[in-house]
Amino acid sequence: MSKNNDHLRLFLPGPTEVSEEILNAQTEWMVGHRMPECIELVGRISPKLRKVFRTESRVYIAASSGTGMWEAATRNCVRDRVVHFANGSFGDRWGEVHAANGKEVKVVTVEWGKPVTPEIVLENLKGESYDAVSFVHNETSVGITNPVKDIAAAIRSLPGGQDVTIMVDSVSGVSGAQIEFDEWDLDILLTSSQKAFALPAGLAFSAVSDRALEKAKTVPNRGYYFDYVTMEKYIVKDQTPATPAISLLFALDKQLDNMMAETMEGRWDRHMAMRQVTMDWAKSRGFEMLADEQYSSPTVSTVANTHNISIGELNKHLRTKNMVLSNGYGKLKDKTFRIGHMGDWGVDDIKELLAGVDEFLVQKGLL
Ligand SMILES: Cc1ncc(COP(=O)(O)O)c(C=O)c1O
Repeated sequence: MSKNNDHLRLFLPGPTEVSEEILNAQTEWMVGHRMPECIELVGRISPKLRKVFRTESRVYIAASSGTGMWEAATRNCVRDRVVHFANGSFGDRWGEVHAANGKEVKVVTVEWGKPVTPEIVLENLKGESYDAVSFVHNETSVGITNPVKDIAAAIRSLPGGQDVTIMVDSVSGVSGAQIEFDEWDLDILLTSSQKAFALPAGLAFSAVSDRALEKAKTVPNRGYYFDYVTMEKYIVKDQTPATPAISLLFALDKQLDNMMAETMEGRWDRHMAMRQVTMDWAKSRGFEMLADEQYSSPTVSTVANTHNISIGELNKHLRTKNMVLSNGYGKLKDKTFRIGHMGDWGVDDIKELLAGVDEFLVQKGLL
């Protein structure tokens, strides 16, 4: 397959590097979405996706980015009031999605760099009645992994906690950072293809519990494109309500085979190893991590820019080696830089990137 050869290796927190094998898988001949070929394709994909999400229930597939699945969660499963916890920019945005869809939402903001804890969640639920709780698992803007398992257990331990819909964004987590849909008793878990799945952008996935699906049936104004009840009718027939992104499904099928071969545990370990190498490097070069080690993300490291280097200049240097990393997000743009170590990358790739950063530090007399 011919591509232009300006291949920049992306150490971004998404979109991530996509291997040539997966890029090429998209070039299969087209099939009709109601033809047996496509039904068999979705039929191959679904059980593998369930393994990635660690669930026996369903995983819906949409031709959209993750934002679409935010809207889906909001429209389908907030009946009266939702309490939403945000400790970064993506958390903020999902709060806006609740409001934009006319839902009554209380947004609890947590300082950037700090986790959402079970204590914070419980404090805000006490004496209140919310039918849904939402938050981000792996906050990409700050490189923090929130303790989903403990938060979910705390919610479930409350009187009436079994009925609360627990909605989790793991756009930059699923398949790179451990998350267990069934075991942790979650209701909605959503992600995008262009992050730890190492696929091109354009697909979004959401695991939905039986409880959440039953609730959706009672919620009015679920909208049309992302109506869980309609999605369910089709996914049980290995189809999607509208034309799916068929080329991306071919790529997904192949990438899921690769994931099954590596195993989820293998992927989580590989991501933790990349995190460790990045953290050790940062500390040894006099940088600090934005987050406490306990909450530092397995897929994206946010490094506090304690040497005040120009991230733009750093990337100019890295581009001479066909590599690029990311500046900080929003208000942390120059104060931090982010290294995406997710998807198909391994420890050796991260070491190569960090060696490139070292060269820049030497040039600046910082090493
Ligand atoms: C944690 C998180 N949530 C949501 C989104 C939005 O996802 P998308 O760009 O796929 O719509 C992103 C994007 O980076 C993200 O990192």
